[in-house]
Amino acid sequence: MLMNCRREGIPFVSLCIGLAMAASLACQAPRTPMAIPPSYADLGKSARDIFNKGYGFGLVKLDVKTKSASGVEFTTSGSSNTDTGKVNGSLETKYKWAEYGLTFTEKWNTDNTLGTEIAIEDQIAKGLKLTFDTTFSPNTGKKSGKIKSAYKRECLNLGCDVDFDFAGPAIHGSAVFGYEGWLAGYQMTFDSAKSKLTRNNFSVGYKTGDFQLHTNVNDGSEFGGSIYQKVSDNLETAVNLAWTAGSNSTRFGIAAKYKLDSTASISAKVNNSSLVGVGYTQTLRPGVKLTLSALIDGKSINAGGHKLGLGLELEA
Ligand SMILES: *[C@@H]1O[C@H](CO)[C@@H](O)[C@H](O)[C@H]1NC(C)=O
Ligand SMILES: *[C@@H]1O[C@H](CO)[C@@H](O)[C@H](O)[C@H]1NC(C)=O
Ligand SMILES: *[C@@H]1O[C@H](CO)[C@@H](O)[C@H](O)[C@H]1NC(C)=O
Ligand SMILES: *[C@@H]1O[C@H](CO)[C@@H](O)[C@H](O)[C@H]1NC(C)=O
Ligand SMILES: *[C@@H]1O[C@H](CO)[C@@H](O)[C@H](O)[C@H]1NC(C)=O
Repeated sequence: MLMNCRREGIPFVSLCIGLAMAASLACQAPRTPMAIPPSYADLGKSARDIFNKGYGFGLVKLDVKTKSASGVEFTTSGSSNTDTGKVNGSLETKYKWAEYGLTFTEKWNTDNTLGTEIAIEDQIAKGLKLTFDTTFSPNTGKKSGKIKSAYKRECLNLGCDVDFDFAGPAIHGSAVFGYEGWLAGYQMTFDSAKSKLTRNNFSVGYKTGDFQLHTNVNDGSEFGGSIYQKVSDNLETAVNLAWTAGSNSTRFGIAAKYKLDSTASISAKVNNSSLVGVGYTQTLRPGVKLTLSALIDGKSINAGGHKLGLGLELEA
């Protein structure tokens, strides 16, 4: 496996280094200190968060975060699906060894999957993060492994991951360039078993302090766009559009989050399927956060089929 990794990985790691050097030249001597662009996966995140955070339809959920005196962080979470009654849970422990930039994470969940992650950041080079990630399922004997590398600096954010989950390793590469608020990103997957690029995503966006525009094309056929705006200190809004080539149905949604005061906020969203989501988040006291949410089918208000959600987060 490691041999394969080296053989298949080298051209891509060289490609990454090449891109990094080209970009460093392009980014030389910026007039003003420039921001580090987000990773490809985080492009458009502000808008996505307005759509996704503060809801939990059809779930009763409890998250508990604690920290031991020796610095080990524990995150326990459990949820029950109100439709199926299925309960599942997970436990995560994390230990940071700050001196050496190391983070150890152990994960377990009720599907009986064990995960171990070791990350090392800013040690080999500033801005470089390497992550070794393995999962093991004792019931099925299924194993998987990933080596992730990420490099970021002004103007540039690169990622090269090698995934050993398939017949041959799959290589995921991504690059995001940022210049004066503009962001351009490219993401690809190379399947070494078939020796070909299997997927491509492109993205272009613009970002200022209170406004973010994000557009993307996935595999040349899925188009999407989102706009995020921070209207005031209390109000954030997001719009989301998506369509698929060859079909004339467009999907769209709008969402907003309003901060009532320093401890409470409400969120609401609606999309073209007339599904209306509302959420209320209240910090009851420091470290205790309650989330209530409801999903209403606007086309059949009286018919039922609506969903409720309850979440509690404890942190000590
Ligand atoms: C919980 O169950 C859902 C399906 O009901 C599954 O998609 C999810 O991965 C499970 N989460 C954990 C932590 O086991
Ligand atoms: C492109 O984006 C889609 C949707 O986010 C994702 O599922 C897919 O894995 C991405 N492709 C690549 C090559 O990363
Ligand atoms: C596009 O919409 C029209 C009606 O507005 C419909 O007749 C046609 O079948 C649709 N085409 C596709 C590809 O979905
Ligand atoms: C709304 O979304 C649905 C998917 O749930 C899609 O099939 C439909 O075409 C969309 N309608 C409009 C008017 O865009
Ligand atoms: C509409 O919103 C609901 C709830 O937010 C979501 O489950 C559903 O997938 C959305 N439909 C479309 C077509 O985006």
